[in-house]
Amino acid sequence: MTTILVTGGAGFIGANFVYHLLDGHPDVRVVCVDSLTYAGNMSTLERALADPRFVFYRQDIRDRDGIAAVFDKEKPDAVVNFAAETHVDRSIETPEIFLQTNILGTQVLMDACLAHGNTRFHQVSTDEVYGDLPLDRPDLLFTEQTPLHASSPYSASKAGADLLVMAYHRTYGLAATISRCSNNYGPYQFPEKLIPLMIANALADQPLPVYGQGLNVRDWLYVADHCKAIDLILQKGRIGQVYNIGGHNEMRNIDIVRLICQHLGKPESLITYVTDRKGHDLRYAIDPAKIHGELGWLPETSFADGIARTIDWYLANRPWWEQIVSGEYRDYYQRMYRDR
Ligand code: NAD
Ligand code: TYD
Repeated sequence: MTTILVTGGAGFIGANFVYHLLDGHPDVRVVCVDSLTYAGNMSTLERALADPRFVFYRQDIRDRDGIAAVFDKEKPDAVVNFAAETHVDRSIETPEIFLQTNILGTQVLMDACLAHGNTRFHQVSTDEVYGDLPLDRPDLLFTEQTPLHASSPYSASKAGADLLVMAYHRTYGLAATISRCSNNYGPYQFPEKLIPLMIANALADQPLPVYGQGLNVRDWLYVADHCKAIDLILQKGRIGQVYNIGGHNEMRNIDIVRLICQHLGKPESLITYVTDRKGHDLRYAIDPAKIHGELGWLPETSFADGIARTIDWYLANRPWWEQIVSGEYRDYYQRMYRDR
């Protein structure tokens, strides 16, 4: 049995990765560490909790002693770090917690890896560390050589963590890799993010708040394809390397929102243009040539299939997100959108 410690496993991508491991690797035990911030949800892990190969710790990655105790008890063979504060708009409101969790929390995990005989460490990062690309240069893509040029406190904190991971690799020989993925969508995404927010609002016949003119471009990848890429990097990636992950699927925000209206049979008159995000990145676009060439990874889910599956999932799992939108999220939504 191999033991993989997954941090942030009660969040969106972390939970999908937990199920990817439990369902696809009968020889793997999964130890999940999550502090259950507003973005973490135990009901997401219900099926995992019934599996004897799964164990959960409510544990903050910033807490050195707590993390050391988990390592002592579980002796993981590898750590995959998803735990993070992840929402750009919240990072503009309250940057501090982003620096604490995303940078210092990552350091705590890497120190624990070194203290336990150089445990394999994978950092789940984001294409947002590269900053943005112009809208009128479709020929430009982010490669692993693109300089880090973060725009938001969120992306700056992820870039800071990436630099620290590379410094730990070079200075202490930490057996680390980094992946930088484009925007994910799929089951269990917290409704503050574009796609689930628009699905939830459309279903409630509420306004669909599009920032600016909706012309910003994101490069969307179905979450299961991201999980497969991380798994490959963990097994076959070269230590000390960065791998970009993305499937050449650039879309304007407004086109995504229109598509969601169409799928749900809702009128486009629900679309409301609101004040733009401060420092709003124009365009993200990943060049995945390295992971394709070295590890043979290719995305398997087209956007047409993925978005249909995602919308169907939100329709079939209303209690999951209705419980979220009735809690802390309601205050957040008021604060963020009321006077926008
Ligand atoms: P999410 O916000 O849905 O989940 C984050 C999880 O981390 C939550 O369960 C939360 O409780 C937990 N967490 C937060 N602070 C913690 C702490 N101090 N200690 C322990 N647990 C803590 O995030 P997500 O969208 O699943 O993103 C996961 C990772 O993937 C992040 O590192 C993010 O930067 C990266 N990423 C996300 C995307 C995307 O489109 N969502 C794209 C590329 C990379
Ligand atoms: P988001 O899901 O927050 O991801 P990120 O900013 O990390 O890429 O936002 C995706 C895009 O959608 C981004 O350009 C901002 C835009 N957006 C809206 O137009 N309205 C919204 O209510 C939200 C949450 C996002």
